[in-house]
Amino acid sequence: MAWNSGLIQRILDFDARNFLLDSLPKNATGMEIGVHKGDFTKRILERTSPELLYLVDPWKYESSSKYKNSWYGGWLGGSQERMDRRCDAVKQRFAAAISRGKVKVLRAYSSDAFASLPDAHLDWVYIDGNHLYEFVKSDLEQACRCVKPGGLITGDDYGEGGWWEGGVKRAVDEFVATRDDVELVCIKKCQFILKKR
Ligand SMILES: C[S@@+](CC[C@H](N)C(=O)[O-])C[C@H]1O[C@@H](n2cnc3c(N)ncnc32)[C@H](O)[C@@H]1O
Repeated sequence: MAWNSGLIQRILDFDARNFLLDSLPKNATGMEIGVHKGDFTKRILERTSPELLYLVDPWKYESSSKYKNSWYGGWLGGSQERMDRRCDAVKQRFAAAISRGKVKVLRAYSSDAFASLPDAHLDWVYIDGNHLYEFVKSDLEQACRCVKPGGLITGDDYGEGGWWEGGVKRAVDEFVATRDDVELVCIKKCQFILKKR
């Protein structure tokens, strides 16, 4: 029974992410914040055929206990050497798209990656990096500067709980409530889609 409901949850999550991918414009310029091993990157490339996709991740092992249950801290993260190997593997995995100029890997914190981009440069952003409230708040603000009017600001893990203590939900809810240049398009499972007016 528990096994079945876990499987059903995974199918529903997969489906919600496909819904989000189908909401993104095709042949566009986008950015994935938080790449990990590139599994979602692969789906972005297959489903949206971007003109240019920025992949942003510092692949930095975080030793603070705050991150002990994250994919880049504690036991799951392992060590900085493991992060370096993860980054190399992503570059290898998408080598063909990188050589065609379709994918650019920015090994950086999202704040630095955004700072390197001009205003209104992107058609969409997918936020799935550091889920703590302050980081998501900053990602949303920077994403709003970097997307074109009509562009989409999207992301993962909207909901209560997690090691980030609901930081994504809090930041997104506040952002939608306080910005009149942004509207909520939809929330589906843990995926959120906002539009810049
Ligand atoms: C949940 S994983 C991303 C998963 C990926 N989007 C997927 O669905 O396959 C979070 C990633 O965010 C990265 N990360 C952590 N802090 C970050 C930051 N400040 N800016 C960008 N990425 C960050 C981590 O290194 C980690 O690889």
